[in-house]
Amino acid sequence: PSDGDAEILNLPPWSTLLGKPVVFKPYGDPSIYETSLARRQSPGLTSVAQASVSFAPLQGLFGIITPSGLHFERHHQGWVDVDPSRHRLMINGLVGRPRVYTMDDLMRLPSVSRIHFIECGANSAMEWANVAVPTVQYTHGMISCSEFTGVPLSVLLDDAKIDRSRAKFVLAEGADGSSMTRTIPMERALDDAFVAYGMNGEMLRPENGYPLRLVVPGVQGVSWVKWLRRIEVGDQPYGAKDEVAHYVDLMPDGRLRQYTSIQEAKSVITTPSGGQKLVGQGFCNVTGLAWSGRGTIKRVDVSFDGGRNWKAARLESPQLPKALTRFNCDWTWDGSPCLLQSRAMDDTGFVQPSYRMLREVRGTRSIYHNNAIQTWRVDRSGEVSNVQL
Ligand code: MTE
Repeated sequence: PSDGDAEILNLPPWSTLLGKPVVFKPYGDPSIYETSLARRQSPGLTSVAQASVSFAPLQGLFGIITPSGLHFERHHQGWVDVDPSRHRLMINGLVGRPRVYTMDDLMRLPSVSRIHFIECGANSAMEWANVAVPTVQYTHGMISCSEFTGVPLSVLLDDAKIDRSRAKFVLAEGADGSSMTRTIPMERALDDAFVAYGMNGEMLRPENGYPLRLVVPGVQGVSWVKWLRRIEVGDQPYGAKDEVAHYVDLMPDGRLRQYTSIQEAKSVITTPSGGQKLVGQGFCNVTGLAWSGRGTIKRVDVSFDGGRNWKAARLESPQLPKALTRFNCDWTWDGSPCLLQSRAMDDTGFVQPSYRMLREVRGTRSIYHNNAIQTWRVDRSGEVSNVQL
């Protein structure tokens, strides 16, 4: 801010002209000036862009809801725009009454709307051994948060009359070419899982599973099967390719841990973050996101000296279970080099670990479930970069 910017005296053209009419764009777009904010893919991460990931630009987002057009994407065999009139959902297996639903059938059933994050188990995967990528978009951008609308899975399983004495697991299957299949324990299926057609007040976007996807709150993204076409009820885990060969944790002793699904408490400062530059000394709002697959975020602490001293951040509303929580923290930068960190705690008392603590248990050769504390270094010029302590 300045005391006398002459620009305030110039009348720009938009103050003197007639603007555009209503319905100029029947389904609106962002401003033409918002060009820097985009989903990005990491060059060289995968050999083909159909089996790849695009990262959400967390550094430029406000609040907790990810705009649908900026939701991260993870596809194993490309995305498809499924004709809803030809889409079907089958419930079969250990059921008294196998069912096949059309979208119209599903949309007349009782619905719920809930805000939840979805995080790929491979979020922060490249950072296990050392610093690999420069910005928060690449370190943490495989997460998004939306209001999803759909039918509780329990309603559909009741409708199909599951055999309660034997039914212990369900298998969810997608309609895309990847044959994505994931086992979900029955307690979770009957608890808060639902089949969603809505996202942020509109139908799901095709990239995110239009017209139907599974929502499994708190659980890693791979179980949120997109283009959902089938739920099979069974009495044991299915051991599908995406749970036996992939999405397993390589432990330090060389053994693989399967079925670790819950995304533990994690947080990250989104501004200031890697690749940004502070405009100058003085006041700076430090803001970020925290989440836990086990429940609600209870506290976020921020450190400016690499974890020696901590200050409680303000948690903004709403603070919802298994959803992103926005935090803010006042800071006055005195121009000296700093190490910025955030540390989340959830309502189970779980505290987000440092890299040292996480590596003691998990080693450095894993891909999945890296929830370590992120450090951003601010140098004297105000430039921010990714470092590990
Ligand atoms: N479902 C199907 N049918 N095919 C897929 O490739 N990818 C999974 C999951 N569901 C996938 C899928 C993975 S690994 C993740 S992380 C999430 O979808 C990503 O969801 P999004 O693309 O909406 O962000």
